[in-house]
Amino acid sequence: MPEVFTIHELEQGSERLFEVKNEEESRLFASNFILLLKAGDAVAFYGELGAGKTAMVRAMAEGLGYKGFVNSPTFTLLNIYEATTFELYHFDFYRIDYEEEAVDIGFEEYIQNEGICFIEWPERVHNLLPVNRYEIHLEVPDYINQPTARLIRLRRY
Ligand SMILES: Nc1ncnc2c1ncn2[C@@H]1O[C@H](COP(=O)(O)OP(=O)(O)OP(=O)(O)O)[C@@H](O)[C@H]1O
Ligand SMILES: [Mg+2]
Repeated sequence: MPEVFTIHELEQGSERLFEVKNEEESRLFASNFILLLKAGDAVAFYGELGAGKTAMVRAMAEGLGYKGFVNSPTFTLLNIYEATTFELYHFDFYRIDYEEEAVDIGFEEYIQNEGICFIEWPERVHNLLPVNRYEIHLEVPDYINQPTARLIRLRRY
């Protein structure tokens, strides 16, 4: 595993930047990142359409021992995966217009409990996000010349 993706610890309030060349390296990042996760954590994934938010959640769920299918819950807003140690809550709020729609499906309760929340389009529920959370910002620096390269900005709040 390239040392460059190793994340020994991430202090609250700090940020780290990773450059990956392809999806395989994104998965390597994911398998390192999940080592930081503890019961009740939340991870918010920012990035435009196709940036790789779902791909990253899939890699993390697999890394946490979930053997099933991981796809964006664009219409259902929430998928639940039984992983080895944690229950995983995969949210996608792309389609919501009001934060109340997230409240209605129990978002605040899921945030409070012991499972791990993965949130796509967290900007749609900004006021409901837990104060303590990880943020993963995915950017595609050059769609034309390096379509599989991603800039990963990891923050801990
Ligand atoms: N380095 C990379 N990391 C992640 N995904 C990559 C990478 N390179 C190419 N891809 C591809 O980019 C696409 C990302 O799609 P994905 O559905 O994960 O995006 P998304 O950010 O969840 O979009 P949406 O906002 O529509 O939910 C996938 O087809 C994936 O195979
Ligand atoms: Mg997605």
